[in-house]
Amino acid sequence: MRPLNLMAVETPSVNPDLPAALVAEIDEVITHYPQKRSAAVMVLHALQDHFGCLTPPAMEWAAARLGIEPIQVLELVTFYPMFRQEPAGRFHLRICRTLSCALAGSHALHGQLCRNLGLDPEAHGLQTTEDGRFSVEFVECLAACGTPPVMMCNDRCHEAVTLERAEAILNECR
Ligand code: FES
Repeated sequence: MRPLNLMAVETPSVNPDLPAALVAEIDEVITHYPQKRSAAVMVLHALQDHFGCLTPPAMEWAAARLGIEPIQVLELVTFYPMFRQEPAGRFHLRICRTLSCALAGSHALHGQLCRNLGLDPEAHGLQTTEDGRFSVEFVECLAACGTPPVMMCNDRCHEAVTLERAEAILNECR
């Protein structure tokens, strides 16, 4: 994958090949905000839903559409755990590693899931099984700190997840 062009791009150097209906939807979303840049998170969600991840061309396109620099888009993409720059598997398991969850056993949870799926328990970044079915990722706070440890399976949030419950969630996806 080529790197993000950090220079200002008024016209993206590579057209990310978006359908006209999605472009219209994004442009409509932007009108809901007093400044175009304020729609950035919503625009990035729409692009990620379409492409499966946020590629450099997609980020450059978003920057041009929002009237901001590509580096500002990259800052958002690298700050928020829900954004990713490579595709995830069909079932994306995100385990919170922030303090409340770490104290409640999220490292054991992450390690068990990784071992069960043949992934490296020491790697904290996005890892995907060879068949593309599962991805595991250790992420920062998932905003349910009162009921740790917290794990998300795609868009569904699971709270107070025991090792047994994690296995059951995995088996439900298999
Ligand atoms: S610390 Fe885990 S959800 Fe916030």
